[in-house]
Amino acid sequence: GSNRSLEGKRVLITSGPTREYLDPIRYLTNSSSGLMGCSLAAAARARGASVMLIGGPMSVRIPSGVDYLPIISTQDLEKATLEQFDKADICIMNAAVADYRPSIPSPAKIKKQGKNELVLNLTQNPDILSELGRRKVSQLLVGFCAEDRDIVSEARRKLRQKDCDVMVANHILPGESGFEVNNNKAWVLDKNGVTLDFPLMDKMDLAETIIDHLVVLLSCLK
Ligand code: C5P
Repeated sequence: GSNRSLEGKRVLITSGPTREYLDPIRYLTNSSSGLMGCSLAAAARARGASVMLIGGPMSVRIPSGVDYLPIISTQDLEKATLEQFDKADICIMNAAVADYRPSIPSPAKIKKQGKNELVLNLTQNPDILSELGRRKVSQLLVGFCAEDRDIVSEARRKLRQKDCDVMVANHILPGESGFEVNNNKAWVLDKNGVTLDFPLMDKMDLAETIIDHLVVLLSCLK
């Protein structure tokens, strides 16, 4: 392409779900496909960035020309992201991180043992984006949130709470926007209080729109 607006910049993107094992073959996860994160990676790459994609198990193709670091659990994602963060100019935390993990994963397959009810104890995972918010120096830190109500106010609260520069809010509308569909309706909020409202778009078009907007914010917020 001829748009080289991210030439010489390093963009770190997390994508997809994380997976939390209860035993060697069973896990808790969510329905993130990784399509939004991979589209963001492709759009950043097409603008000349050097892209590091860290992703949980995704059902979409990894775009060519991006470095890819596969992870499984939230704790893997935390370790890999913290290792890559210092050298990034832009960090986009798009991964759908599991909020909880089994407190004590069973080393062997869990048996029914005649029980009608099985109680799982869960432990809260670390909030990686908040950690990055505390650690950031000059990085443009971008979070994503998926909401089904009070979308913009929730996004504004999370932007402040996690000390991000930008928060992209996605509308979860089953079958129309968000998880497991090709389209997304998004708002892009920045720490100066500006909110942009984008129409329902194809995820690749939305990724390009978001990346172009981040290029602008990189020069005016940083
Ligand atoms: O789950 P929540 O709506 O708080 O997610 C908002 C943002 O925080 C997302 O960018 C997500 O990747 C990030 N997050 C995280 N670590 C968690 C939970 C969410 O980095 N444990």
